[in-house]
Amino acid sequence: MRKNTAGRMFVATCVGSFFILILYLQCNIRPAADPGSKRTKFPVKSRRTPQQTLHSSDQLNMSVVQTTLQGRRELLQKVCEIHTQKQRILNLEDLQHLIVDDTHGLLYCYVPKVACTNWKRVMMVLTGNGTYHSPLAIPASEAHVAGNLRSLSEYSTADVNHRLRSYLKFIFVREPFERLVSAYRNKFTRSYNTAFHIRYGTKIVRRHRPNPRPEALKHGNDVSFEEFVYYLVDPRTQREEPFNEHWERVHSLCHPCLIHYDIVGKYETLEQDSSYVLRLAGVDTEVSFPTSSKSTRTNGDMAAKFFNNISPFYQKKLYNLYQMDFFLFNYSTPAYLKLK
Ligand SMILES: *[C@@H]1O[C@H](CO)[C@@H](O)[C@H](O)[C@H]1NC(C)=O
Ligand SMILES: *[C@@H]1O[C@H](CO)[C@@H](O)[C@H](O)[C@H]1NC(C)=O
Ligand SMILES: *[C@@H]1O[C@H](CO)[C@@H](O)[C@H](O)[C@H]1NC(C)=O
Repeated sequence: MRKNTAGRMFVATCVGSFFILILYLQCNIRPAADPGSKRTKFPVKSRRTPQQTLHSSDQLNMSVVQTTLQGRRELLQKVCEIHTQKQRILNLEDLQHLIVDDTHGLLYCYVPKVACTNWKRVMMVLTGNGTYHSPLAIPASEAHVAGNLRSLSEYSTADVNHRLRSYLKFIFVREPFERLVSAYRNKFTRSYNTAFHIRYGTKIVRRHRPNPRPEALKHGNDVSFEEFVYYLVDPRTQREEPFNEHWERVHSLCHPCLIHYDIVGKYETLEQDSSYVLRLAGVDTEVSFPTSSKSTRTNGDMAAKFFNNISPFYQKKLYNLYQMDFFLFNYSTPAYLKLK
């Protein structure tokens, strides 16, 4: 049943993908501001959609957060214009990471290793019709169960177009190498992540370690960061299959040059940006973004430590691979890299 629907939708989307692009281009046109409500900055029970609230508050006395977010949005658009030769057409697969909240009019593109468990929990509270009382009451494992949240790729072309045009689209990003190191540590240095060790670790050891021990070949559970880097920059890797989402670039996961995100939140300012999104959605009284107790966010030299072992040649290759994420989201080239 499900498979049939998906099949039909795929055909429909192939036929209809042309329209996704055409109709969607209109999203750059701002919704007309409602003149009567300019004075209210964040109406708690607004009749406006979050996206309308965002654009009407653009004309208000802007807070520092708003100004920052607008700067990011404009910079993203500028970088996209510089680096995009021709507009590609959105297809179903491009929309897989977009999570839909039809109740509040939100689209969230999730990026692993950027607080996505907590954002998925919040989205479950928002779409759950009162099933969940607080985000942290939802086990992390449940937040990642496929089917607990709806992806935009499950909708018909007309429904996709409508949502891309009128919902508040947001994304959370992070300094690319901090994210990469975080993915490496989580997937390759924790003994419980056996699925990743078997799926990726064994292959990395086989290809990128001279004279591996038989146990290492079998378990793939002692991959070094250096070997992980060899794997990432090896042209065979991406020829064979797309990167796993934990180390795939945001550019490829969320298509920020094709989907015009209203809000680009950052991991580095997670609390502030998250509460802004919740205020725009008018749900800040119902749900608050979970603040983590063990904040690793202040730890900016973590990546520096890991890159110490990587030769300048591979540092450069890796930087080239992740360059678009640095450019698009205004992250400066890390000072610890030896690119010369
Ligand atoms: C903007 O807000 C600040 C502080 O809230 C206030 O001092 C300033 O006069 C306002 N500016 C305008 C143009 O309304
Ligand atoms: C980009 O980053 C630089 C350096 O961190 C900062 O000064 C600037 O304000 C940022 N620009 C935008 C539009 O966010
Ligand atoms: C919430 O209610 C809406 C409308 O009644 C329904 O379509 C949706 O499936 C419900 N969601 C959950 C998680 O029960």
